[in-house]
Amino acid sequence: MGIAQMREDAQGNATEAGARPRQLRGHTAAPRPLTAPGWADPLFPGAGRGSECAAAPRPRPPAEEAMPALLAAAWALLACAFLAALLLLLVLRRPRGGSGSSSFVCGLFQDLVRYGKTKRGCGPRTAAPRLRQLPKRWFTHFYVVSVFWNGFLLICLFQAKFLGGLLPSWIQCVHHALGRDSQSEDIDSEHFSALLVLLLLWLHSCRRLAECLWTSVFSNGVINIVQYCFGLVYYVAVGSTVLCQVPTNVRNGKELSVQISWYHIVGVMMYIWASLHQHRCLVILANLRKSKSGKVVSLGHNVPFGDWFERVSCPHYFAELLIYVSMAIMLGFHNVTWWCVVLYVLFNQALAAVLCHEFYHKNFSSYPKHRKAFIPFVF
Ligand SMILES: NC(=O)c1ccc[n+]([C@@H]2O[C@H](COP(=O)([O-])OP(=O)(O)OC[C@H]3O[C@@H](n4cnc5c(N)ncnc54)[C@H](OP(=O)(O)O)[C@@H]3O)[C@@H](O)[C@H]2O)c1
Repeated sequence: MGIAQMREDAQGNATEAGARPRQLRGHTAAPRPLTAPGWADPLFPGAGRGSECAAAPRPRPPAEEAMPALLAAAWALLACAFLAALLLLLVLRRPRGGSGSSSFVCGLFQDLVRYGKTKRGCGPRTAAPRLRQLPKRWFTHFYVVSVFWNGFLLICLFQAKFLGGLLPSWIQCVHHALGRDSQSEDIDSEHFSALLVLLLLWLHSCRRLAECLWTSVFSNGVINIVQYCFGLVYYVAVGSTVLCQVPTNVRNGKELSVQISWYHIVGVMMYIWASLHQHRCLVILANLRKSKSGKVVSLGHNVPFGDWFERVSCPHYFAELLIYVSMAIMLGFHNVTWWCVVLYVLFNQALAAVLCHEFYHKNFSSYPKHRKAFIPFVF
């Protein structure tokens, strides 16, 4: 049975059970806003009866209209914070004297932006109290959270799109508040894009979890508690952002079907290519600590060679950026909110790459001079 057929059956059943108004299947031409009277959204079959926020059809108030823009603004703000931290770091690298209070702030700043090997290289420069340190191998927890949370969102969205299931009412509320009203004629494609991105985000988390558990060899490096909490929240936020990219309005009378566009194919190919290189680079790093027989023989840091390491110090960060860019492509290039997420990843990974590049230069006098920090030939 094809997916479209499955959907038809599911919709038919739902209609009989009274969960979906019949008019959904009628052929009224004009797109209707989410909350217009008589509106029904195939993604939210409970709208109009089960959920409080969908129960009372009403025009969207201006404040609610502004909510989707708020989501993009929040990511843009985060990106700006990391850009500011990157610029500050470049300024602080210049030799300078400092008063007690400025060196306190400096120490706190360094403590907030550094982790793992780059924290170790930094040393206790100032009297700033160290934020509580946690093992860096707890990175694993981020991916556990991501696999469960984004897996849950994926199942909900898949059920709602193809099996006529209900999204939990609280997700409907968040979605209606933060989701995007689409003016596009190509709504099928937009639904499919969001589902595809959520699936690939989940697969990315699964791979990263597997790498943390079975590939990477962690030393006793640390992250601080702020970075740890941020990491946990990040993966919940990023999956929820994808969910909010599902258009909240839909043309009545049009069945949702899988519509694959050229940009989905380009995005998926780029995603696979970047993921393969990221994995290879993480294997190279792990092998630096293993003997030929695969036994861990050291927990020190060495200079990596091979694959994209020939061009940059942190190719796995560059690959991460490409993975997020590939998702922006899958969303059809025009999704401003997702480009803000990409900007956040760009500045976040650039900051980490600059610190890592500096670490290699400080600790290895023969470090290859031609290697850039983050983006081949550029940065
Ligand atoms: N999307 C985001 O916001 C975000 C944020 C952060 C990270 N990430 C992604 O998560 C992945 C891991 O990031 P990360 O910051 O943990 O990378 P990393 O610091 O390079 O560490 C990766 C692994 O390699 C080891 N390692 C690093 N340098 C080494 C060296 N010179 N010699 C031997 N072993 C070395 C590390 O061990 P120790 O560090 O334990 O010594 C760790 O096990 C990356 O792909 C990154 O893109 C994404």
